[in-house]
Amino acid sequence: MKKNYSMPAGYTFLQSLVRTYKQVKNPIGTMEESMEKFNGTYAVNLGLTRMIVTQDPGFIDHVLKANHKNYFKSPIQTDQLGKFLGKGLLTSNGEYWLRQRRLIQPGFHIDKIHALYSIIQKTAADFLATFPTGKQIDVYPLMYKLAFEIVINSLFNVKVPLDHQQQLSAFIREVQEFVIKEVRQPHKNWWFQLSGEVNRNLKKADNARQIIRNIIQERKKSTQKHNDLLDMLLDARYEDNGEPMHESQIIDEILILLIAGHETTANALAWALYLLAEHPDELKKLRAAASKYLTVDECVSNDALNSVVKETMRLYPPAWISDRVALNDDAYKNFTFPKGSIIIVFYYGLHRDEKYWENPKSFIPSRFDKQHITKEKLKAYFPFGSGPRLCIGNNFAMAEMVIFLHAFIHRFEIKPVNISPKINPMVTLRPDKVLLDIEQF
Ligand code: HEM
Repeated sequence: MKKNYSMPAGYTFLQSLVRTYKQVKNPIGTMEESMEKFNGTYAVNLGLTRMIVTQDPGFIDHVLKANHKNYFKSPIQTDQLGKFLGKGLLTSNGEYWLRQRRLIQPGFHIDKIHALYSIIQKTAADFLATFPTGKQIDVYPLMYKLAFEIVINSLFNVKVPLDHQQQLSAFIREVQEFVIKEVRQPHKNWWFQLSGEVNRNLKKADNARQIIRNIIQERKKSTQKHNDLLDMLLDARYEDNGEPMHESQIIDEILILLIAGHETTANALAWALYLLAEHPDELKKLRAAASKYLTVDECVSNDALNSVVKETMRLYPPAWISDRVALNDDAYKNFTFPKGSIIIVFYYGLHRDEKYWENPKSFIPSRFDKQHITKEKLKAYFPFGSGPRLCIGNNFAMAEMVIFLHAFIHRFEIKPVNISPKINPMVTLRPDKVLLDIEQF
């Protein structure tokens, strides 16, 4: 017997098709419009696929945390991204994911990350030594390069040849762009196969894997400790059998860390510089509250630096959207929905929802200061996700962002140029161009 479900209000099949088309052109605007119309949660009907889009923090908590066992990541992440990146933390589900997470999690504990602060600090200092100054400098590609250098140096505390770095960086950028193309234009997937585009990307993946394999093999021959993430991955042992990971699993996890830890941070930093340039009073306050002479540890615990980064990620969450698939029928409040329903979590919308945030569109870092922020407010804030699949690199990411920001603001003056960056929502919330006038002090 067919069950009756009580799906949220939303769009009919035809309307959903039209919305999907509109959404390809303007994903955020289209979703914001629908959220307004349906008060924070709506259903999309794509024939056999039931989809619920939500920015309701209670619903998000239900899916990511309270009832997380009933949800897997969708095939977009596990299969479409996984076919190029392999099976790592970001691209797996169930028992396999849990075993990997238990293995890798201790390496990202705050005490372990502490050993990476000096790598981060040195990478940032070297980078700033040749940072360009002048009019209308696009800081996005610079932040992209910086974030890549930080993650690559933290993974492999050895000199990786420049052309190999460039090939890895290009691979992870291009693979994301291609997967987004596949997701947004599924009707063209036959053509992507036939034209050889899929194979070209698979070849690039093979090349990236070979570069990483060579680094691992060199490391295995070395007797030295490097105190980097690769040492951590090589030394990690499974709880159940005391064995290390296979080399191919380590390569999968490294590709995942590169992809997950690169563009997200680059986006947040580029948006932070843009917001600070647009708000000179906030920049001045930040320079005063985070003095030039702070140590790295003091930067990491500095309230003002952390608040600027958190407020930036409220307005421009690098992971602006995520998804899950229900393994069994489920219910939340008055809604009931069948197994197989896809839940789209719209973090960007929630972070700007006036039900939860005062002056949601304004840049007010002090709202995150320890004396102002409440547990209640944080229930509407998910820059790193939530539940057991919370970003494993969250402490690392916060540390690198505040360490860099601190070094940057005491070396450079930044001014806005009256051109707002366009938002380019790919897998992450990329700014198109972030043009700033930059002078050295
Ligand atoms: C500003 C920077 C970052 C942001 C905003 C961010 C955000 C996120 C979010 C929202 C998720 C959960 C996705 C979901 O539930 O569907 C996630 C997962 C993940 N992130 Fe991050 N991330 C950042 C930096 C990093 C860094 C630096 C690393 C590692 C070096 C990293 C590694 C990962 C991994 C491996 C996962 C998958 C975890 C799992 O499923 O067990 N991230 N990240």
